[in-house]
Amino acid sequence: MQEKLQMFENRLLKVFKHKSKLAKRQQMSCYRIYDHDLPEFPFCIELYEKRIYIAEYLRRHKLTEEEHEAWLENCITIICKIIGVKNEDVYIKHRKRKSNRHDQYEKTANKKDFFVVEENGLKFLINLTDYLDTGLFLDHRITRTMVKEECAGKRVLNLFAYTGSFSVYAASGKATSVTTVDLSKTYLQWAEDNFTINLLKDKNKFTFIHADVKQYLKTLQPNSVDLVIMDPPTFSNSKRMKDFLDIQQDHVTLINDVLHALSANGVIYFSTNYTKFILDANNIQASQIKDITKQTTPFDFEGKLKRWCYKITK
Ligand SMILES: C[S@@+](CC[C@H](N)C(=O)[O-])C[C@H]1O[C@@H](n2cnc3c(N)ncnc32)[C@H](O)[C@@H]1O
Repeated sequence: MQEKLQMFENRLLKVFKHKSKLAKRQQMSCYRIYDHDLPEFPFCIELYEKRIYIAEYLRRHKLTEEEHEAWLENCITIICKIIGVKNEDVYIKHRKRKSNRHDQYEKTANKKDFFVVEENGLKFLINLTDYLDTGLFLDHRITRTMVKEECAGKRVLNLFAYTGSFSVYAASGKATSVTTVDLSKTYLQWAEDNFTINLLKDKNKFTFIHADVKQYLKTLQPNSVDLVIMDPPTFSNSKRMKDFLDIQQDHVTLINDVLHALSANGVIYFSTNYTKFILDANNIQASQIKDITKQTTPFDFEGKLKRWCYKITK
């Protein structure tokens, strides 16, 4: 046991030294430190400024509940020591293996424990206690910057927007309008709060729409939008939807519906976390499709990223 813990400590020290150096160079205070590096220590560890978020992926082990608790305590002590955080700033979540694809966005507690972090000079509300995800997907940091850099003077639409981090980047990048669409009222409110803390207040320019994207897209007129971000879940079947969404099956229709609403030379940033995803390029009515997965992979996800990202031009 002791020997294995020492192995974990050595590995964590090595990756933390490396990642923290790169993070400092890029002035990033939120980044992923460790992700399943050693199979016997199945954690994902992320730093949110002075707080640590640990997701433990459940696996079959031979430990009793007490033994597992003791093992976890030892791991947390090591994590605090190496990363230099206080025990009270550690947030641990037990993630199920995704056996059931339907429960991705479940609420896990109700502490309303929000705090603010900064990324590239913009502020984001984080919650490490109440939901399965934290409020900010760290792997899309570069994609967000790309959107900000090219959205000035454009009408931006963020579909499946979650807490609106792409929308905040677009609004601060001087988009003429930013429309944020999500099926969850909770996440939409979170997105609005992210706008508020960034002092982005122009109600005529920034719209938040509670809708099922599949149906919302059918309401859009041609040439009504210039830049679209679309980052759907792999599967979704909320009660509020007419039918369900399966990204492998539905991506062609979704993308073609967006292309129909885009202006000439308009662009879609399309991303999916479905590891087995195959883009059906032949049936997408675009002039260009570029795989930008590699280009949008940040330093803390190199070699570990399990998502795809495409830039699709009308
Ligand atoms: C993977 S997250 C998007 C992450 C976001 N692009 C980001 O980077 O922060 C998926 C989001 O889609 C929303 N969602 C799921 N099904 C939906 C639907 N049919 N219509 C609209 N939003 C939906 C969920 O509420 C969730 O916020």
